[in-house]
Amino acid sequence: MGVLTRTPLATLSVLLGLVGCAGQAGVDAPSAHAGHAAGAAHAGQAGAEDRRLLVAFPDAMRTHTLANMRDHLLALAEIQAFLAAGAYDKASDTAEQRLGMSSLGLHGAHEVAAFMPEGMQAAGTAMHRSASQFAIAARDASATGDLKPALVALARVSQTCVACHAAYRIQ
Ligand code: HEC
Repeated sequence: MGVLTRTPLATLSVLLGLVGCAGQAGVDAPSAHAGHAAGAAHAGQAGAEDRRLLVAFPDAMRTHTLANMRDHLLALAEIQAFLAAGAYDKASDTAEQRLGMSSLGLHGAHEVAAFMPEGMQAAGTAMHRSASQFAIAARDASATGDLKPALVALARVSQTCVACHAAYRIQ
């Protein structure tokens, strides 16, 4: 194990991926197929070779991070269910508290960030920012009744998950 410095390009690509077409750096990311609908991701097209950058985390931090990740996915599922039920404020709160800028303390982001290469930190920040932007869009939807901007914002949140997963691994 240890930090694998396969290519600084992976880092560059994830940064580019965040602003444009996410997932270019990634290879082994079947989940990224979902992104095609939003024009978000083209990961998985380069075959079976795993080109993600392996980032060395201490064991406890890896376990903690993976648990956080599972909660991220749960949060997304809850947000979608709230939106479907017309509970836009709840969708907003869930996004802000569990994924947004307000979640940084909850996730011990500061300590974990110390072990991350810069591009991975940027990918994390992009996720927190996009979730907070979604939270605003969802709150607006409760006033306007127009859900579309919130759905666009939610797709952006998912794209930030995809972009990081396409470029990095911790095990
Ligand atoms: C800053 C990078 C980053 C971001 C952003 C990110 N993840 Fe992850 N996630 C990872 C890494 C690294 C792994 C471990 C992958 C590996 O080592 O194979 C992971 C793993 C996971 C796992 C598997 C957990 C397990 O128990 O194995 C889930 C589920 C997950 N992420 C969901 C999400 C969701 C949903 C989002 C967006 C809301 C997200 N992640 C955003 C980096 C990120």
